[in-house]
Amino acid sequence: MFETSLTRKLNIKYPIFQAPMAGGPTTPELVAAVSNAGGLGNLGAGYLTPKQLRNTIHKIRKLTDRPFGVNLFVFEQPEESEEETMKEMSDYLDFYRNELGIPQSPALRKYSESFEEQVQVVLEESVPVFSFTFGIPSPDMIQSMKQRGTFVVGTATTVDEAIQLEASGADAIVAQGSEAGGHRGTFLKNVSDSLIGLMALVPQMVDRVSVPVIASGGIMDGRGLVASLTLGASAVQMGTAFLACTESGAHPTYKQQILSANEDATEITRAYSGKAARGIQTKFMRNMHAYPGKIPPYPIQHVMTKDIRQASAMANNPEYMSLWAGQGLRLANDQSAATIIKQTIDQAKKLIEDRK
Ligand SMILES: Cc1cc2nc3c(=O)[nH]c(=O)nc-3n(C[C@H](O)[C@H](O)[C@H](O)COP(=O)(O)O)c2cc1C
Repeated sequence: MFETSLTRKLNIKYPIFQAPMAGGPTTPELVAAVSNAGGLGNLGAGYLTPKQLRNTIHKIRKLTDRPFGVNLFVFEQPEESEEETMKEMSDYLDFYRNELGIPQSPALRKYSESFEEQVQVVLEESVPVFSFTFGIPSPDMIQSMKQRGTFVVGTATTVDEAIQLEASGADAIVAQGSEAGGHRGTFLKNVSDSLIGLMALVPQMVDRVSVPVIASGGIMDGRGLVASLTLGASAVQMGTAFLACTESGAHPTYKQQILSANEDATEITRAYSGKAARGIQTKFMRNMHAYPGKIPPYPIQHVMTKDIRQASAMANNPEYMSLWAGQGLRLANDQSAATIIKQTIDQAKKLIEDRK
């Protein structure tokens, strides 16, 4: 009933991708549990060093012999940030450091992992699926992946982005609706001009590209799956639905927030990383509305707030943590990944059968 050209190509039973979620939630246990349950588990590897990435791929392979994916952030040259802007931000952040009892104005560490080195690991490990967000890797890189037999998936938030991804050789495209949790994958226009609801985005994208489209954003159960397939998607990619599940590596305080928040709790912010992302509103986000200076661009701000996010998590204080989440929050639950997949499929089957 749920076989699509995409599930056949990927050799998976159900058209359900567990979203790659960098920063801890997508543990090897979660990725493997989803793949073992018939979906496609995806590792969010954007923040991993090449060595960590290789070890994690090996761990996943020990836990499953089913296909899985690895996701990276397409490298962006950090925009120049004026010394003055960074100094002002650092001084401002010292207020939180003081509150959390951690050292003031720490020296900045490396901005981001080397994308080329991360890609090299994915190539060497011949990972079944490689997905990416924030842009398009070079055509050579995409071709090298495909020559290794890796299925390549890009992320688009508008139809124009999807058209460019298809032209660059992507085998499938994740349509990221404005409901989606986490960072926006937007790379052509301003984020504010690229916030298209999934219901509008999927059919328009499906009409304009010939590769499979994977619907993503606010999908939490069988209703979202059936709706997405009806709109023409070949699969769904669900993130928030898995954040509080047993195998998720999200911090317990983060899980609690996911399980208790409602659909109106999120906001798109640049406060934590310098790049627009949807998360549950926190005191840090609200305070940042009144910040008089400029927020340094990604990944500079991401590095600048790291110690604060970590100290906040250590103190089980959600107010300075980044709590990325989509708008489907009321539907989140803390069951196992296999149960979430089973319930989603059972509900979708029933919906389709009841229609007949
Ligand atoms: C905590 C979190 C982290 C995320 N990290 C990534 C990532 O590393 N790479 C990526 O392509 N998408 C990432 N996303 C976005 C997801 O791929 C997907 O678009 C989103 O989860 C869909 O919306 P939903 O959370 O409402 O299901 C992340 C989302 C969340 C919630």
